[in-house]
Amino acid sequence: MPENTTEVKTIAVIGAGQMGEGIAQVAAVSRFSVIVYDVSSDALRRCQESHKKRITKLSEKPPEKGGIPPADVEPVLARIKYVHNLSPVGGADVAIEAVVENFDLKKKIFHELAHTLTGRQILATNTSSIGITSIAASVGAAAERVVGMHFFNPVPVMKLVEVIKGIQTSQETVERTIALAKALGKTPIPANDRAGFISNRVLMPMINEGFYAWMEGVAEPRNIDEIMKLGCNFPMGPLELADFIGLDTCVNIMDVMADGLNDDRYRACPLLKQLVAAGRMGKKTGRGVYEYPKA
Ligand code: 3HC
Repeated sequence: MPENTTEVKTIAVIGAGQMGEGIAQVAAVSRFSVIVYDVSSDALRRCQESHKKRITKLSEKPPEKGGIPPADVEPVLARIKYVHNLSPVGGADVAIEAVVENFDLKKKIFHELAHTLTGRQILATNTSSIGITSIAASVGAAAERVVGMHFFNPVPVMKLVEVIKGIQTSQETVERTIALAKALGKTPIPANDRAGFISNRVLMPMINEGFYAWMEGVAEPRNIDEIMKLGCNFPMGPLELADFIGLDTCVNIMDVMADGLNDDRYRACPLLKQLVAAGRMGKKTGRGVYEYPKA
């Protein structure tokens, strides 16, 4: 585990969904104290249960694969607190927001965070496409502390953190964010603030093209995915990956890119939008392109 050479001791994770859960796990394993905040008690309970399972499982893995000694399981779990009111978040050195991709919700949360964390604390967002500059615009003078910290799913496995500088973000905030990402065992790579940044700007058109190829009958979904896995050495094909990310999330990201980059080539494929309209959101709902029977 990397040594924490930053001044950060406590990380607040805002949102106990899939990404928030992963970020909190990585932070606790990296020896940070963690406060997970969510308005939903159900989401907090699910997050806590999942942490118990996943962190216990880490004790079965060797250290080079992210494993921890069995004696560390309880201390890692004890470093995570679950709260549904914002006041304990005031004790954090950094907040990482990981709620759903909804601009109005993010604006509201950043407004509250700026009033709760009034010092030098970094106010990071894990947004996958929404402009950092626009989110920062909702927090007045605290805008220079707002930065993008884009993690990838599954967070404990994926090495990258895309660090995004909004127009108002100070260079000091960017440097402290890069140091924090390293202390979390990740590889930070900077990008500037354009819709979709780099990762989704390149990934989403590939996923979208997979749906167009399916819609036009070029090949069946399984064959599209196998071709890209075996031919390009991807761990998942584009349609399987879309199910993993969430088809609704893919459509949201493409809408933000089409609007933000003023270019209809980023619009989601009609078949992809139709599956979302049918409630087939991917793995999380049990059906997307493929079916996922409950284990
Ligand atoms: N949490 C923690 N660990 C997990 C996990 C999870 N949710 N899912 C899998 N893992 C771990 C497993 O424990 C296993 O660890 P081990 O090798 O030490 O035993 C390892 O990952 C491999 O898992 P599996 O053997 O079960 O399965 P695979 O070999 O098929 O790998 C995968 C699963 C890691 C998800 C791999 O298929 C993969 O890398 N897929 C691509 C993922 C990807 O592209 N993510 C980015 C999505 S884009 C994004 O997040 C950005 C957003 O803005 C849209």
